[in-house]
Order: sequence, then C-alpha cells, then structure tokens
Amino acid sequence: MRLILLGAPGAGKGTQAQFICEQFKIPQISTGDMLRTAIKDGTELGLKVKEIMNSGGLVSDDIIIDLVKERISQPDCENGFLFDGFPRTIPQADAMKEGGVKLDHVVEIAVPDEEIVSRLAGRRVHQASGRVYHVDHNPPKEPGKDDVTGETLIQREDDQESTVRNRLSVYHDQTAPLVEYYQQWAAQDPQSAPQYHRIEGVGSVTDITRQVKEALS
Ligand code: AP5
Repeated sequence: MRLILLGAPGAGKGTQAQFICEQFKIPQISTGDMLRTAIKDGTELGLKVKEIMNSGGLVSDDIIIDLVKERISQPDCENGFLFDGFPRTIPQADAMKEGGVKLDHVVEIAVPDEEIVSRLAGRRVHQASGRVYHVDHNPPKEPGKDDVTGETLIQREDDQESTVRNRLSVYHDQTAPLVEYYQQWAAQDPQSAPQYHRIEGVGSVTDITRQVKEALS
C-alpha cells in the first residue's frame, strides 16, 4: 500500500494518517514532521528551512525531493508508506513519477478555508511523535497532555491566523493543481496512475476515517 494524502493545511491529513498507518502497518512519511525535527535538532537542514516554514512558505523542491527519496529507500518502506504533505508541487509529483515510484491511491481530504482557520487555532501537537489533537474536536484525555506519554502538548508556530492564511494561499497556488494532475493521469492512464478518491473532510474524525477506509478497501 503506497498512498498520498492530499489536502489543505489543517484538512486532517495527519489525523487520518495515524489510523491508516496503523491499519496497513505502514510508516507515515510527513515531510512537515521531518523538517520540524530538523529544526528542533538544530541541524544544517533545520537552520536552512526554519524561516520559510515559520512564514508558511514552501521549502525548495530539491531539498524535499532528496529528503523523500532517502526516506523511502529505508527498509521499513518495503511494504508501503503513506505520504502526508508530499508531494506539494507539480515538480515534486513529477519526481516520483519519473523516478518510477508506483503509487496505489491518492486520497484528497477537502475542507473549506474558514473551517481550517478555526481548526488550526485549536490544534495541539505532541512534538516527539507528531500525534495531533484539537482542544474541542479531538481532545486529549487530560488537557494539554499526550495520551500515550503524558508529555506536554505544544502549539505549532505556523498555526497563528495570519500564517495559516498565507499557508492556505500557498496551497491554492501550488498544491491544489495536483488535484487535476492526478485526476487527469487516472483518466488518461488508469493502469499506471494511482486511484483518485475525494473525501469531504467536514464531519466527525471517526466518520472521515470510515470514509477513507471505505475508499481504500
Ligand atoms: P505540514 O506539516 O505538512 O503542514 P500542513 O500540510 O500545512 O498540514 P498540517 O499538518 O497543518 O495539517 P493536517 O492536514 O495534517 O491536519 P491535522 O490532522 O493536523 O507542513 C508544514 C510546513 O512544512 C509547510 O508550510 C512547508 O513550509 C513545509 N513543508 C512540508 N512539506 C513540504 C513539501 N512537500 N514541500 C515544501 N515544503 C514543505 O488536523 C488539523 C487540526 O484539525 C487538528 O487539531 C485536528 O485534531 C483537527 N481535526 C482533524 N480532523 C478534524 C475533523 N474531521 N473535524 C474537526 N477537527 C478535525
């Protein structure tokens, strides 16, 4: 199982990824999480990308493509993987296609912009694992604490409203064209293209999970 979760920032990709990866026993490859770890660890990569991430812009395609190629060559990706937040531009998608990385499914989670702004204001994250919560819609058992480790949850720097609006505009300009990219590919060459599924992402987390699982079954 090799799949892409496509959707705007805050559409619920990370939330659904947790359930899908558990079900199919595949690793979640979140380029955002990988970059945030690099920033936290103060690596050369982290220093390079910090400013652009905090402003809500996109990191350069070359950096991202190298990062992903290296990651999918690891042994835990032999039976598949889930891309969360990648590809995000046409050149990133082309790099997978031209590199012969066969994909089974693309799942688009579609959510209106205004819903996203309110979701991201209430998001809380466990930084070490990437587990995601929402203060109202998906609260941890104990407020402010991760369910598994009990460690303190944080708010991401790029979840401030002005940055979220910038991320949404970047999404519409650079990532939304991938919807047409994968739909056209599926229409023109269904044998080699991944199957395309669109899920309406407004509703309870469990209801969205059920729809995603149905699409993949
Ligand atoms: P990244 O970390 O990928 O962020 P993103 O795509 O903006 O996505 P998010 O993680 O913000 O949202 P999500 O869809 O995973 O939503 P979540 O499940 O958390 O990227 C960050 C930055 O890294 C980018 O801006 C860029 O700079 C850089 N970057 C990363 N990848 C890159 C790439 N490929 N190329 C270039 N640059 C790259 O849910 C959000 C909230 O909503 C949570 O609180 C959750 O609990 C809640 N929620 C989830 N589902 C529901 C529901 N159904 N109802 C109500 N609330 C819900």
